[in-house]
Amino acid sequence: MSNEFSGKTALISGGAGGIGFALAEEFGQLGMKIVIADIDKQQLAEAEQKLQDANIQVLACPLDVTSYQQWQDTVTAAENKFGDIHMLINNAGVGGIPGSVDTTKIETWRWVLDVNVMGVVNGTQATAPSMKRHGQGGWIINVASMAGMNGVAYSGAYAASKAAVVSMSESWAAELKKHNIAVSALCPAFVKTRIHESLRNLQPEYQAVKDQGGPKIASEKRVNSAEALVESGIPPSLLAKRVVEALRSGQRYIFTHPNFRSPIAYRSAKIDTAFADAENSPLVGHLKDDEIVML
Ligand SMILES: NC(=O)c1ccc[n+]([C@@H]2O[C@H](COP(=O)([O-])OP(=O)(O)OC[C@H]3O[C@@H](n4cnc5c(N)ncnc54)[C@H](O)[C@@H]3O)[C@@H](O)[C@H]2O)c1
Repeated sequence: MSNEFSGKTALISGGAGGIGFALAEEFGQLGMKIVIADIDKQQLAEAEQKLQDANIQVLACPLDVTSYQQWQDTVTAAENKFGDIHMLINNAGVGGIPGSVDTTKIETWRWVLDVNVMGVVNGTQATAPSMKRHGQGGWIINVASMAGMNGVAYSGAYAASKAAVVSMSESWAAELKKHNIAVSALCPAFVKTRIHESLRNLQPEYQAVKDQGGPKIASEKRVNSAEALVESGIPPSLLAKRVVEALRSGQRYIFTHPNFRSPIAYRSAKIDTAFADAENSPLVGHLKDDEIVML
């Protein structure tokens, strides 16, 4: 089998379960060498075994994405085993805890932003230098969410973290194009995984998220309906095939749920109206035709 992925190496954070594992299986079946890195050591060992059973070349590395040092160690281990890394999938993420702006604990914000935002920053900073150096180009896929395309009530921390992932993907796509590294933001809606059980991976340093009588959630009803939506989501294996399809045609935003087009179009229309309001403003309207200078 020969294709644009075969013989190359993919490093997947959160690769022991859910979306990350489905991507590991899909790219492994396409002939890639797979590095799965995950905080859950037991699930990691099980995932490694499953990939080996499917005749996929695999390396499993324990990793907490909030640690830059652990990311560096993972990149070193991957290169020692398989040589150059061609694909980075920043997939590890946590769902946070549904809650209103005044009840969501600061510790919850820190946990969600550290894993979902700094985890992606750490992964890219640790891996991009090697990907640039070998000069063969490649792919960086940052797993954002439909929540990164539009704010979500009672999920402020999660939505903010995913908006940051979309934004970083846009910045890095522009920066890394000259190195032939394609950066995309994967923005799924609901996928049937264990994302609603993210507290299972809570690191000891964020224990305060659970302390003082437990996490402050919006309401049991809201949590139950979030769970039901994830349970009714698409299978991760379908998402993985969609990612391959999108990479093959160079899609920078990878959408898996076309039914979400109208809410996002509604947001875009509101932004456009806001520009029209600025154009009509006696204060700033005169700036309308000024040349835009971009870096
Ligand atoms: N499932 C959905 O509906 C959905 C929708 C949009 C986006 N996403 C995103 O997809 C990504 C994958 O989530 P999933 O749905 O597969 O959930 P999941 O909980 O099933 O899998 C997440 C994986 O990441 C690992 N992980 C968690 N914290 C980690 C850390 N600090 N360091 C390393 N690994 C860690 C977990 O052990 C697990 O293997 C996340 O970024 C999530 O936000 C999921």
